[in-house]
Amino acid sequence: MIDLINVSKTYSDGSTVLKNINLHIARGELAVLIGPSGCGKTTTMKMINRLLQPTGGEIKIKGKNIEEFNAVELRRNIGYVVQSIGLFPHMTIAQNVTTVLNLKGASPQDCDKKARELLDLVGLPPETYLTRYPHELSGGQQQRVGVARALAADPEIILMDEPFGALDPITRESLQDELLRLQKEMHKTIVFVTHDMDEAIKLGDRIIVLKDGQILQADTPEKLMSNPAHGFVEEFMGSRRLVQQPEMIPVREMMIANPIVCPPNITLQKALQRMQQGKVDSLLVVDDRHRLQGIVTALDIHRQSGETKQVQEIMVPPRMTVNSDDNLRTAINLMADFNLNFLPVVAGDDQVLQGLITRGSLVKVWAQTI
Ligand SMILES: Nc1ncnc2c1ncn2[C@@H]1O[C@H](COP(=O)(O)OP(=O)(O)OP(=O)(O)O)[C@@H](O)[C@H]1O
Ligand SMILES: [Mg+2]
Repeated sequence: MIDLINVSKTYSDGSTVLKNINLHIARGELAVLIGPSGCGKTTTMKMINRLLQPTGGEIKIKGKNIEEFNAVELRRNIGYVVQSIGLFPHMTIAQNVTTVLNLKGASPQDCDKKARELLDLVGLPPETYLTRYPHELSGGQQQRVGVARALAADPEIILMDEPFGALDPITRESLQDELLRLQKEMHKTIVFVTHDMDEAIKLGDRIIVLKDGQILQADTPEKLMSNPAHGFVEEFMGSRRLVQQPEMIPVREMMIANPIVCPPNITLQKALQRMQQGKVDSLLVVDDRHRLQGIVTALDIHRQSGETKQVQEIMVPPRMTVNSDDNLRTAINLMADFNLNFLPVVAGDDQVLQGLITRGSLVKVWAQTI
C-alpha cells in the first residue's frame, strides 16, 4: 500500500535526517514507527502525505509515485491525526468532523448523518457532542473527535503522529482499545508514531524502530521481544523481554506512579476543570491521607445536572484494587477475570493509593504469560 524506496531527507540547513529508508507497509497493516526524539518520525509522516518532499528516493502509494497524485486530493484521502489535535476552536464538533466532506461537496444532510455516525463510532453520543465546541471537551474527548475527523472522508490510509501522547494512562488505554476495535472492523492502513514501547507492542502488527534516520529493525512485536536485531533495540525493549515469571514480580515495579487524583469534596465543575487541564477523562478520588475513595469520569459528570454537586456524591467505588506487594500474576488474573481496563494499586488496610496498573502497562509480560 505504501512503499518508501531509498528515501532520504536533507533539510535546507544541510542536516540529513533520513538516510536511505526502505519500507513496505501492506494494505490493512497497522505499522508503528518508534524511536528517540528527532530520529525522523514526523518527517517520514509528512513526506507520505506530501507536506514535505524527499530529497532522495521515492514514495509510492498503491504502486504509484505520490508526485503523480494531485497533492490536495492526496491529502484529503489520507487521514492525519496529530498530538495537539488541532480542532478548529470556533467550529462545532460536527463542523470540525465534516470539514473535508464539506469540501468534497457532500450535502448538509449527508454531513450531518456522517457526523452522527462517526461520533457514535468513537464513543461520543452525538446528541450531546455535535453542537459543542472543542474547549467544552476533555483532552481525551478532543482526541476522539480528532480520530473521527480523520475517518470522515473514509480514507484508506491514516497517519497518526503521537495521537495519544498527551493523555493520561486510563484515557490512553481506552482510546487504544477503541482504535483496535475500529481497526478490526475497518482494516485501514495505519502508520502510527509513538514514543511508548508498551503502546507500540499493544497496537502494532509490526514495529519499525528508527534511530538517527535509519531503520534498525522492522518486525512483529513478538520478534522484537524474542530477537532484537540490535543493541539499541534490545535496550529499548528494556525489561519487556525479561519478565518470565509474573509470580515473582511485585505489582509496584510495573505500576504507573502518580496518577491524576482529586479530593472528594470538590465540585463537579472543578473536577471537570481539572480533567480539562490534565487532559484526562477520569480522576481517582483520594482523601487527605491519599486513601482511595472512588473514581469519577467525565461521562459520569456530563450525565449530571447541577454543577454545585460534589465529586463524592457521584463517584463510584473502584471495582477492584490490588496491593502493591501482590505479585503481577494476581493483577493479571484480576484484570482478565473481571475484564478491567485498569486497576488501582493500594497499600495497607486503609487503601492508600500507590499507583495504577493498566492493560498497557502489563503488555510487557503478555508475551510470556498469555
Ligand atoms: N524544517 C526543518 N529544518 C531543519 N531541520 C528540521 C526541520 N524539521 C525538523 N528538523 C530536524 O529533523 C530531525 C527530525 O525531526 P522529526 O520532527 O522528524 O523528528 P521526530 O522523530 O518526529 O521527533 P519527536 O519524537 O520529537 O517528534 C530533528 O533533528 C529536527 O530538528
Ligand atoms: Mg515528531
